[in-house]
Amino acid sequence: MSHLAAAPEPSVTVRAPGKINLSLRVGPLRQDGYHPLVTIFQAVSLVEEVTATEVPAGAGISIRVGGLHAAEVPTDRGNLAWRAAELVAARAGIEPDVALTIAKGVPVAGGMAGGSADAAATLVACDALWGTGLDRGELDELAAELGSDVAFALLGFTAVGTGRGQLLTPAMVRGEFAWAFAVQGHGLSTGAVYRRFDELSGTAPTGPVPTGPAPTGPVPSGPALTGPVPSGPVLTDPVPADDTELMQALRAGNPEDVGALLHNALQEPALTLAPHLRATMEVAREAGALGVTVSGSGPTVAALGRSRRHALAIAAAWTASGTADEVLTAVGPVAGARIV
Ligand code: C5P
Repeated sequence: MSHLAAAPEPSVTVRAPGKINLSLRVGPLRQDGYHPLVTIFQAVSLVEEVTATEVPAGAGISIRVGGLHAAEVPTDRGNLAWRAAELVAARAGIEPDVALTIAKGVPVAGGMAGGSADAAATLVACDALWGTGLDRGELDELAAELGSDVAFALLGFTAVGTGRGQLLTPAMVRGEFAWAFAVQGHGLSTGAVYRRFDELSGTAPTGPVPTGPAPTGPVPSGPALTGPVPSGPVLTDPVPADDTELMQALRAGNPEDVGALLHNALQEPALTLAPHLRATMEVAREAGALGVTVSGSGPTVAALGRSRRHALAIAAAWTASGTADEVLTAVGPVAGARIV
């Protein structure tokens, strides 16, 4: 007896979060072209959803993208999700045949690691679809090969990141934090913001900067940034160069203190590349935000509200002021990449 409807192709859907950096401290450029970081990540409820669907052998990888700013996202090997699928297939010793569908909820090129979330979700989805059975350590290794923020998108919640940001230690956090985000239509290049950081801090290398692909395998962490980070006149650091107080405020679930202690060494470099963001930040302060920061390398501005309702009010103030192209609200911390 024949069935009229074909059986649906097996598929796996994985959700992974975007992030903000509650603190981001940056050391001088390393020989490998990266900067050593000490950062506190928090995963927020702006999420990416990646569905990996089986395709016939030899079909190769395909990517379709929908959702927020989908048109700006590459659908070829330039998409980190493509490389994530290739890495899992290589580990499994199989050909990378898979159709990836990405539903975007994290702003593109916004400093919230949406592309890294896609890569993390793809690692987990392909592993499940192909029955590769990669363990946590193997997934982390592949994540570190793909980019600085991919390992955190796997882990989620709140964590301290060192090295390039990929060496993670979970942090204890009490309660929920309510965020508002001002999204800009034009993204900032992470590499360009780091180069501006080098210029402003007077640590720009005199010789050619080594470029090339990201180093493979776990990257040894740079020197611990316990002392003050070298900073020029513009980057004068007003807070002590360690995050003990911020960690305490997170453990205590004290949003006032967390807001006051937000810190981002890339904020001033991002603001010199996108000066209009100063007005965006001011609007959030006037709306009573507990803290306002550029998210990662920007240009998304994140503001911490007293409550979900207050975060909505901050978002409304941005909309009324015309200083954001789009506004979003979210809560954190949330889980890392999970099959749904
Ligand atoms: O790791 P990812 O590909 O997201 O980084 C993009 C660029 O940002 C890198 O090529 C590098 O120039 C810069 N970067 C850096 N130090 C870091 C992370 C990124 O200089 N820790």
